[in-house]
Amino acid sequence: MTHENKFGMFIHWGIYSLTGLHEQAIARYDLDRAYYEGLANEFDPADYDPEQWVLLAKKAGMKYICITAKHHDGFCMWDTKYTDYNIMNTPYGKDVLKMLADACKKHGMLLSFYYSNPDWHHEYGYNPASTHQWKSARMDTSDTEKYREYVKNQVTELLTNYGPIYTFFWDIPPKIEDPSLNELVRKLQPGIYINDRGWDKGDFSTPEREYQAAEGVSFTRMTEACNSVGQQSWGYRAQEDFYTKRHLCCSIDRIMSMGGSYLLNVGPNAKGVIDEKYTEKLMAVADWYNRMEGCLECAEHDPFSYEPRHDKYIATKKNGKTYLHFYNGIISESVALKNYPGSPKKVRLMNSGAELPFAIEPLPEFFDGKTGKASAPFLHIYGIPSDEFVSEPIVLEIEW
Ligand code: GLC
Repeated sequence: MTHENKFGMFIHWGIYSLTGLHEQAIARYDLDRAYYEGLANEFDPADYDPEQWVLLAKKAGMKYICITAKHHDGFCMWDTKYTDYNIMNTPYGKDVLKMLADACKKHGMLLSFYYSNPDWHHEYGYNPASTHQWKSARMDTSDTEKYREYVKNQVTELLTNYGPIYTFFWDIPPKIEDPSLNELVRKLQPGIYINDRGWDKGDFSTPEREYQAAEGVSFTRMTEACNSVGQQSWGYRAQEDFYTKRHLCCSIDRIMSMGGSYLLNVGPNAKGVIDEKYTEKLMAVADWYNRMEGCLECAEHDPFSYEPRHDKYIATKKNGKTYLHFYNGIISESVALKNYPGSPKKVRLMNSGAELPFAIEPLPEFFDGKTGKASAPFLHIYGIPSDEFVSEPIVLEIEW
């Protein structure tokens, strides 16, 4: 993903959406197991229309969808032979992953699967070496060998019956080294990318939530960051604390300009709908993202040190142009670069698409206090309507 980094949609969906609380509701709210698992008998997402999801992702500029096939609760969202605790045994009774795979295929959307290693339903799911084991079915016994057979069987189904799969997202490192799992994944889906939360280190790293990458400018390993549109939960939450547009856009800009992919999550509700508030937030981000005209994807790191006076930035290059990403915004209506390879032919503000005026000139803000003379000239890009874009990172395109 370093060389073909993309923006994608993460989807956390399962019977937990019926609680309106959290994808780990059974554990985090200490719910009664019989009650929680009984929700399978109520799960009937009659309004599920995967084409709507795919079209929404497309509209947001997203190139792939990663959906939870099985979360920690162990409930399986596909027609699996290996447990009855699955979508076929609900009032809905249809393989929702198959429906999504068909919709993705129809609209040219890549598909990825999330699969949780913790399994709170499976008899042998308990793994004392790992975390997130709170509500495992039996914590008095552990047989990860038997459990691994189950995982392999399920992975085989997921990677055989749903067409080409773009990435595989294991969740919660089991802290047991077993390369045979990823070998199986690769055998079934040559060319797939696998994350680092599985049974060996996989292909890519997965920083999450408010993780701030070290003050770097470029990832050294293939990376896919993820965050949800809301702060409290990945699964549907009726009272979600949605992030600000600014927080999300700044995070996406920073990660993607460092060469990472970015999964932005939504939690569809129990009817199978990405509801209005989730959609609104996603579209607010998409409105910014689409104005970036793809400059965040597949760009190269630009090693030139531009030294803007105040604002933190990451520089990339694409199609012969330089992109300066001021991922936390800028403090005035201008950017002044101390170093520049020459005089630009053209400077554009990606946020609006408008051309910006510039001059190579000394600035009174900087002068040599000893001699009283003006400092060396800056590349002064001015007239930036920053106040119109306070909820967004500022991105400049420079043609040299
Ligand atoms: C964390 C959470 C899990 C969520 C995942 C998404 O691991 O525990 O619930 O699915 O993040 O990356």
